[in-house]
Amino acid sequence: MVGRSPALRRVLERAARVAPTPASVLISGETGTGKELLARFVHVASDRKGEFVAVNCATLPKDLMESELFGHEKGAFTGAGDRRAGLIAQADGGTLFLDEVGEMPLALQVRLLRFLQERTYRPVGSTRERRADVRIVAATWRDLRGLVAGGQFREDLYFRLAGYDLVLPPLRERGDDVVLLARAIVVGFAQVAGVGRRELGEAACAALRAHDWPGNVRELQGVLFRAAIDGDGKRITAGDVRAALPRKADVAQPLDERVLALVEGAGSVSTGDVVRALRVDRVTAWRALDRLVERGKLAAEGENRMRRYRVPEVVVEERDPEREAVLALAREHGRVTKRMVMERLGMADRTASRLLTKLVQSKSLQRHGEARNSDYVPA
Ligand SMILES: Nc1ncnc2c1ncn2[C@@H]1O[C@H](COP(=O)(O)OP(=O)(O)OP(=O)(O)O)[C@@H](O)[C@H]1O
Ligand SMILES: [Mg+2]
Repeated sequence: MVGRSPALRRVLERAARVAPTPASVLISGETGTGKELLARFVHVASDRKGEFVAVNCATLPKDLMESELFGHEKGAFTGAGDRRAGLIAQADGGTLFLDEVGEMPLALQVRLLRFLQERTYRPVGSTRERRADVRIVAATWRDLRGLVAGGQFREDLYFRLAGYDLVLPPLRERGDDVVLLARAIVVGFAQVAGVGRRELGEAACAALRAHDWPGNVRELQGVLFRAAIDGDGKRITAGDVRAALPRKADVAQPLDERVLALVEGAGSVSTGDVVRALRVDRVTAWRALDRLVERGKLAAEGENRMRRYRVPEVVVEERDPEREAVLALAREHGRVTKRMVMERLGMADRTASRLLTKLVQSKSLQRHGEARNSDYVPA
């Protein structure tokens, strides 16, 4: 990792010290600060012989995450096809990098915790326990402690994952690292087809130092790339840099507001639309959209790459105390079964079934498992 600032050096030293131990490591930091790069560094410095396997909990469809991680038997569920080993098996002897770990559904958090405690797991549809020696490195841009307080992340899992934590400082707190990084990035361009050699003058460096880099190293890469392509000549000038930086007026308005205005104008957008219209990277765009969905300002349809966002229609939902009691129970335990609803809420079998079905239909709960003993998990 490029950088000589004391703030970065301290993190790298701590990372090097924890690397050879079996401790789980939790990396946090703003977007583009190098969390994934640091995770790879921990793996390489650990001397573990197995693979570094990365999984992004935000982009994997929720209902496939369990079988992706733990694997599945042949025909374990519709579309399961042949038996698959899963990422945990692949990372045996190596490191599993759980990116955006804050997005992991509660039901899966339970299973992951069990694996971390026992070091054994069961593939979906299998009755046999398997064992794997996996080092976990997790990353998040969210405040996991906040998620714990809000009931969206299990406290016991949090303590397991945060056995050791590394916080990457934002680029604006790394002094002259921005110039070192810029030079390294520009040298990198020379090796990428299509962009020739470029030099970086003193004035350009001063312009880079003056910016506060909310998108950190990834933003720096984007700005230099645009400056290199749009500028003419071999030298990137201060003017090229300034032209490639987001306009002041754009920055003044918070990103979420700009995204919202875009959606209102366009009717509906994809992540790619936001990337192009607002000149932000995909992760930044996706996070802004995600925040707006969470705040109820936008509605999302479809999975992953096909996902579109629009302004939600105003639906006045009838308040139903029974439904709310079931949902509260599900949130409290991370899941709920029909039996739990009957026992805890004193409901008759048919009432419990009817309510659970309705909650699945209205997408408040997701159903897992066989008809007779399904788990219902908050969606
Ligand atoms: N110190 C560094 N030296 C060299 N390259 C870096 C450094 N930090 C980050 N990068 C590069 O910047 C880009 C973003 O880094 P990375 O993907 O690790 O960030 P991140 O924190 O995971 O970002 P996000 O939260 O947006 O997923 C990558 O191309 C990475 O190689
Ligand atoms: Mg990342």
